Amino acid sequence: MKISVIGLGYVGLIQAAGMAKLGHEVLGSDIDMNRVENINKKEPPIYERGLKELLQEIVPEKFTAFQELKKPFMDSKVSFICVGTPSKRQGEMSLHQLENVLKQLGAFLKNKEYHVFVIKSTVVPGTCEEIVIPALEKASGKKFSKDFSVIMNPEFLREGEAIEDFFAPDRIVLGSSDKKGLGIVKELYKSFSCPLLETNFKEAEMIKYASNAFLATKISFINEIGNISKNMGVDTNIVAKGIGLDKRISPHFLRSGIGFGGSCFPKDVIALVYRATEKGYNPRLLRSVLDVNRDQPLKMIELLDKKKGPIRGKKIGILGLTFKAGTDDIRESPAILTIKELLMEEAELNIYDPKAMEKTKKIFSHLNYLKSAQAVVDESDAVLILTEWPEFKELEYGDKLVIDGKNLFFDAKRPKNYEGICW
Ligand code: UDX
Repeated sequence: MKISVIGLGYVGLIQAAGMAKLGHEVLGSDIDMNRVENINKKEPPIYERGLKELLQEIVPEKFTAFQELKKPFMDSKVSFICVGTPSKRQGEMSLHQLENVLKQLGAFLKNKEYHVFVIKSTVVPGTCEEIVIPALEKASGKKFSKDFSVIMNPEFLREGEAIEDFFAPDRIVLGSSDKKGLGIVKELYKSFSCPLLETNFKEAEMIKYASNAFLATKISFINEIGNISKNMGVDTNIVAKGIGLDKRISPHFLRSGIGFGGSCFPKDVIALVYRATEKGYNPRLLRSVLDVNRDQPLKMIELLDKKKGPIRGKKIGILGLTFKAGTDDIRESPAILTIKELLMEEAELNIYDPKAMEKTKKIFSHLNYLKSAQAVVDESDAVLILTEWPEFKELEYGDKLVIDGKNLFFDAKRPKNYEGICW
């Protein structure tokens, strides 16, 4: 089938590449010229394991990127809409990019017989029915369910494992009231063996938020247990293992540490809190999840202060900038928050990350970025591990104080002068 993918960021690019690998003809669209050029040169614009090899295989035979919307849209039957829905200042989801794209696509739709719009962008419950469909109807003068279809198909891809997650998802959720469109999208996913759940629009929209809110809650829960345990001299990792053996709890997402970051959990929980409040409900549990998470990087600073204080003027090594290993993404990274706090404390920072130095320089241009992780250790008074990059396990730490926020050494010999955030 001919498919277009609108927005070639972390979600859209994997959707496009995955669909192309499945044999579909994929036309991608993005406003960023560099991104488009890189993709067409088979160069991934982001770091994601396996993506480079995949692009080599599918570009240009099965996948081409364009800097325009019209051609990909007009030449395809189905469009996956994968543009960002970032947070506004108060935490409310911004629909600016989505509305802009819908307006343009709606205008092109005037000259098309029929089209299926698949919404992959994360949007709060009610968005498809209250915003997406009316926007398309207004711009095109056509009717939902008669002239075009809209399907909500949330994404659950983990960065770093996104390609594996694309090909082996736990489930596919399709929310719509439109049978024709559902049939076409089901056809696209027919080779997948996982459960496929058909819901209405709002349920599909909510499933995405509830999944992320649940996982974020699990992390803040284990971090709270971790903070309590640390104060009592209890190793939280053993506690997590003990509770995770209970099938009802499961061992996943019980790694305590400096808290969750990334493009989804913080933004989605904040947006859900905002929306719930707007609708007259005070989501106390979710607010606490965010509170615990916001304070978690401060635990690193407290430990550092306790062990090596005062921090002012000390050379502190920062190992890792991304919100987790396996990605170059620093969005909402606890490492960035930790750096901000340390700068407020007037620490001198030595920084290294294997993938995200250039991106971080755009936020903090004046800091001391070193050529290697070992140089960070050698030139600092104490070292903070803020991303679980495996290579940090291999360093010579000597007697340096190492404070680990990511449980990097769970399967390796710990450095001599080692302290874990919750263990
Ligand atoms: C997440 C969801 O998993 C995915 O389904 C969704 O669609 C997008 O958001 P991602 O942001 O890539 O994916 O990362 P994930 O692996 O889920 O981790 C999120 C954050 O939680 C990271 O900062 C990670 O370090 C942290 N985390 C995860 C923990 O602190 N402890 C854990 O046990 C698990």
